[in-house]
Amino acid sequence: MLLKTFLLCVLLYTASARTRSGVTFKNVVVRGYSMFTSKFNVTINSANTLKDKLPKQVFDKLEIVDSEIPVLYENSISDIDDLDELILNNDGITEIQPGTFKNVPQLRKLVITHNQGLEEIKSGVFNRLNIATMDLSKNSINTIASSAFDDMPELLNVNLADNQLKIWDKNWFADTPLLTRVSFQNNHISEIPARAFRNFRGEKQFGSVPLTINIVLSNNEIKTIHEDAFKGLDKINNLWLDGNEIDSWDENLLSKVAVKDLRIDNNRLQCLSGDLKNIFVAATTHIDGNPWDCGCLKNIDLWASQHGKDVIMYYSKMNCDAERIDRKLKDLNHLLKELRKNDTEEAGDQE
Ligand SMILES: *[C@@H]1O[C@H](CO)[C@@H](O)[C@H](O)[C@H]1NC(C)=O
Ligand SMILES: *[C@@H]1O[C@H](CO)[C@@H](O)[C@H](O)[C@H]1NC(C)=O
Repeated sequence: MLLKTFLLCVLLYTASARTRSGVTFKNVVVRGYSMFTSKFNVTINSANTLKDKLPKQVFDKLEIVDSEIPVLYENSISDIDDLDELILNNDGITEIQPGTFKNVPQLRKLVITHNQGLEEIKSGVFNRLNIATMDLSKNSINTIASSAFDDMPELLNVNLADNQLKIWDKNWFADTPLLTRVSFQNNHISEIPARAFRNFRGEKQFGSVPLTINIVLSNNEIKTIHEDAFKGLDKINNLWLDGNEIDSWDENLLSKVAVKDLRIDNNRLQCLSGDLKNIFVAATTHIDGNPWDCGCLKNIDLWASQHGKDVIMYYSKMNCDAERIDRKLKDLNHLLKELRKNDTEEAGDQE
């Protein structure tokens, strides 16, 4: 009998644990704003859903910062009609459950940063929301589900800088027709796979404003770029790959892409082989800070000036010039020594 009761208790407990939506907000201060003006500050002692404890006041922005909300449970931020902007910074967030955000039709900007324990973005958290700008920078995110950002019709701008990502997933961002800026700098991504940006294809237009793609992958650990990495794209505004470990560059990598600003500075490039016409497709290409072979750099410089391409290599050129001058000085020194030697020999002969 006792055992039976015990088992029943365990059963009930696990069942309730599975469906339990815990208390998300415990002793947190929520600040409300309207048109950039502070409207209210409320302290929530205990609530599962934010909506229940908000004052009946007009607001468009909510901010919870420097608080403790370790788990954002399902439905915790739901049914808030006029919320346009939500800021959750430095709140010790470790988990965001699928279904946290529901029925927030006006939410355009979501900022969740400085949460050191936040490592994973699951599927079902952001899908189908109307967010345009999503800032998830400065957390510890190392895992993002392939479908985490699918079906986001208004998504324009995603910031995942300063996280712990090691992998670029080519399946991210399916059905995000407006997505034009992805900032992934300061992560540990080591490879750009084939068709990495296949979900970025197509004309992008915001109202009557045409949009072009910006891809920021600066300061990662990229060593390998698949030859078809950019396949399918025909226009990129900024493509920033500076501060990586790239030591070779496939001449056809960008041959069909119109790029405005290409940054491959501060990598490990020594020379570029192949047709420079295919390589330097960008209006401006930054190549400084690579361990260039000086002869190779000179060719690039010559080619660029002949073809009116803006290739920025100011410091590398200076280094190579310095090297050349250094070599000349050494030659000169050698010559001087020899002359002096001959002089003394001659002087010796005369004596
Ligand atoms: C809310 O708190 C902030 C900072 O403590 C203060 O500047 C602001 O005036 C407060 N807003 C209201 C409406 O009381
Ligand atoms: C120094 O003397 C040697 C032998 O006499 C000669 O071959 C060499 O060209 C001289 N060097 C210079 C710099 O005049």
